[in-house]
Parts: sequence; C-alpha cells; structure tokens
Amino acid sequence: MPLRWRGAARSGSTRSTELLLDPNSFVELDRFVQHRCVDFEVEKILGDGVITGYGKVGGRLVYIFAQDFTCIGGSLSETYAIKICKIMDHAARNGAPVIGLNDSGGARIQEGVQSLAGYADIFLRNTIYSGVVPQISAIMGPCAGGAVYSPAITDFIMMVKNTSYMFVTGPDVIKTVTHEEVTKENLGGAMSHNERSGVAHFAAEDEKECLYLIRELLSFIPQNNMEDPPVVTPKDSPDRRDESLNQIVPDIPTKPYDIREVIKRVVDDGYFFEIQEHYARNIVIGFARMNGRTVGITANQPAVLAGCLDIASSIKGARFVRFCDAFNISLLTFVDVPGFLPGTAQEYGGIIKHGAKLLYAFAEATVPKVTVITRKAYGGAYDVMASKHIRADVNYAYPTAEIAVMGPDGAVNIIFRKELLKSSNAEKTKAELVADYRSRFASPYKAAELGYIDEVIMPEETRPKVISALEMLSNKRDSNPPRKHGNIPL
Ligand code: HXC
Repeated sequence: MPLRWRGAARSGSTRSTELLLDPNSFVELDRFVQHRCVDFEVEKILGDGVITGYGKVGGRLVYIFAQDFTCIGGSLSETYAIKICKIMDHAARNGAPVIGLNDSGGARIQEGVQSLAGYADIFLRNTIYSGVVPQISAIMGPCAGGAVYSPAITDFIMMVKNTSYMFVTGPDVIKTVTHEEVTKENLGGAMSHNERSGVAHFAAEDEKECLYLIRELLSFIPQNNMEDPPVVTPKDSPDRRDESLNQIVPDIPTKPYDIREVIKRVVDDGYFFEIQEHYARNIVIGFARMNGRTVGITANQPAVLAGCLDIASSIKGARFVRFCDAFNISLLTFVDVPGFLPGTAQEYGGIIKHGAKLLYAFAEATVPKVTVITRKAYGGAYDVMASKHIRADVNYAYPTAEIAVMGPDGAVNIIFRKELLKSSNAEKTKAELVADYRSRFASPYKAAELGYIDEVIMPEETRPKVISALEMLSNKRDSNPPRKHGNIPL
C-alpha cells in the first residue's frame, strides 16, 4: 500500500498549529511513525493521523497534539497513542501545559485491544499529570469514545459552534439501542455541552476563535504546579475607587443585579475572562487580574435563580476552585447567596453530596483566599462560600450585607410561629418582628464583632482593599495534613 502524507492538517492553507503557537515556534516530533496493524488492511500514513510536538504560546513552552480526521477518521492506533504519551511525558518532566486538538472517532476499530490500551495509556497520564501541568482540550470536529473521555479528564474543554461534537456513542448507536432520534448537534454540539451538560467550558464561534481562546487562557495560568501565574505590568491603578459600585448592589435584598457588573468594576481594566458562561449561570467563575496578578473569581449571580446554590453550580464552582488551588491561583469570592435551592429535584439529584463538593473545595484550598459579601449570606451557603471558618484569609462585607441562618422572613415564621398564630394583627406583628430580627441579626456587624468579618468596607473601595489583602497574602504558605488524597464527595 502506498504511503501518503497527512491530509487536512498538512495540505490546508491555514494550519492550526500556526494560529495557536507563536510564529515559527513549532517543532514536530515523530512525523515518520506509522501504524503496525496487520489484522486488517489499513492505509499507512506518515505520522499515522496525529501531529505531535512542542512550541511556544506568548513565549512560553507548550506541548501539543493535533488529530487529523481525514486520516482514518482521526482514529487512535497503538503508535498514535505512543506519540501522544511521549509529549505528555515530556510536558510533565519539563513542567509545561499540554494542549490537545481533538478530532477523532476514538479507538481505531481495526486495531482492537491495542487501540484500547493506547487510550488507557493516555487516560492514565491525563490522571496522574492532573494538577501537575495544565491540560487543555479543544474539540475541533466529531469526537467519540476515547476522544471525549481523555478531554473529560483535562482541565478545560473548548468547543466550536456548529462543527464540533462530543459523544460517547453517536446518533446511529442511540437509535439502534434506545430508538431515540437525535441530531449530532442536539446530542453533542457545542451548546449542548456548554449549556446543558456542563462538559465543555467554552463555545467558540469558529476554529480561529477557539485557538485564540486557548492562548488567552494560558496567559492567566502558570506553566505547572510549582510556579506562580504570570504577572502582567498593570495599567490600572491599584488605588482606583469606583463610586458606581455604591449603587449597583440594590438595598432591597430580593432585587436582582448582575454580579459581573461588580466584578468588572473591581478587576484590572474591567476585564473578566469568564469560564462556563452558559452553564449553571447562578454561579459565575473566571479569571481576572488584580494589580497584574491572576485571581480566580467565584461569585454568586443574583440575576439567575436569585444566586441560589444548586447541584450544577456547586459542581461548576468546585472544579474551578480546585483548579485554582492546584495551580497557585489566589481565590477571590463574591458572596450574595440566599441558600441552597429547595425542591425534590435537587434533593433526589443529590444536592447534599454535590453541594458538599463546593464546601470541600473551598475548605481544602490553601492558596490566598479573599471574600467579599456584597449582600446576603444565609445559612449553610454562608459557610460554603469561602467563609472565615473554612480558612479564608481576609473576609470583607459591605455595610448592607446580611449574614444569618436564614432570611428575616423565614426566620420569623419559624421562631415566632406561636406568637403569629395568637396575634390579632398577624401582619403587623410579623412586620415588627422581621424589622427587629433584621436590625439585630441580619447585618455584617455581629459577624464583624466576632472576627468572622475582618472589615466592613464601602463598595467603592473594594478594589484597593482586595489588592491590599492579596499583596499581604502573596507569600502565604499553608498546607493540609500528609495523606494519600482526600475523598471529595463525588
Ligand atoms: C476506524 C474510523 C473510526 C474508528 C471513524 N472512522 N471512526 N475508522 N476506527 N473509530 C473512519 C470511518 O470509517 C470513515 O472511513 C472515516 O473515518 C470518516 O468517518 P465517517 O463516519 O464517515 O464520519 P462522520 O459521518 O463525520 O462521523 C464521525 C463519527 C463516526 C461520529 C465519529 O465516524 C463514528 O461514530 N465513528 C465510530 C465512533 C466509535 O464508536 N469509536 C470507538 C469508540 S471506543 P472512510 O474510509 O469511509 O472514509 C473508544 C474506546 C476508548 O474510543 C475507551 C473509552 C472509555
């Protein structure tokens, strides 16, 4: 059988490695590797359907592999897997991120268990290098089987609208087994995984944007778990106050507002790199810089579900907090949370164990942790959201913050139930009791008296206060007791 060079990745006018990497920085490895399959007649292609190597992004080393769907569906053979494992091992030894451009039908069916073994070798490395070097997956076409499970173990997944798909089994298999008819797009398209399943973190408009998103993401994070994130020379003054912050958080506790408006006014140059913006929108996560240094921001979003914590938002927040902790990224947390979302769907779905994930993640994190309570912090959700009690370093609250076991209305209904039943004018009595409860408990001053809040600050001074706290904490050293690993409630 004649040998041929790879298809799209080599003959196309725009090569993905050139859009992603710094110009002329790419060095290819193993371009003459071929498969060793003898059981079926499979076309021999130089490189065997995957390009591997290393290069630079923003002047920093990265390792990369790019799968080529035009070569036997980008499917993974034994030798193809060896090529990927080689660059993953280099990455771990040399402390640099791994980027995978996935475009593959999964294990090469003709190679049987050898291709399964190849995927397992990759999964093993995805797992043992997790938290050692950042791993980023872009889904650049239809991906199935191992081509989705490997990305699932990595830290971030980028998808491209209308051209990338992820599924364990495709529409044809689903039709045969369950008789469901579903399109590739509905089953595993970019928005299905960005909005519904939460499997993906970004939905790019096109492949170019997807590759630029990877460059940008890398600019916020360190090369490995032994380094700090890169520092950018700040243009924004660390002393900048923003008086508009005094008006953004409404005095009325139930009135919605967009927490991203607060975040943008606090961070450097108003720039917030949001992650998973379409999924579990009641919590907001992403990176920004404070005086040039990366922070990982987690914030309740009062504009969606009143900012309640539920299953999806707890999982979303927990995974992000753990990424930041693994890679020495300080945590900045904005709190406005009325509690956990009530309901049978949540209880049967396991909100107890999923909510515990976020609690666990914040509690185990040893990076600098700064928390700002903008309005409500009720019940268990107060404890969960990087409270002082789970080792947050500096906790601020705005003067209008309410910190209590529950909102005044619910509290009065429970503790004064008998009085309200007896009262000749229950409405008036309740209003008085609610006002009394609010003035006594639903303020930040009780927590400040106890040292649970370090300082009650004016909203306008959030930026200078947070920067000063982060600078004070910049040499923080903290650790957890030696152990094999914790047992996060999965
Ligand atoms: C060998 C494969 C292949 C595979 C695709 N091709 N997947 N060859 N092994 N896994 C070949 C096709 O035969 C075809 O060859 C060419 O690639 C293009 O595929 P099409 O089906 O024409 O493309 P498309 O219609 O876009 O569909 C893409 C697809 C589909 C949805 C990915 O190809 C598909 O369902 N493939 C099989 C997926 C799968 O079940 N993989 C094994 C997973 S198990 P020709 O010669 O016709 O051009 C696995 C184990 C890991 O990965 C463990 C997981 C935990």
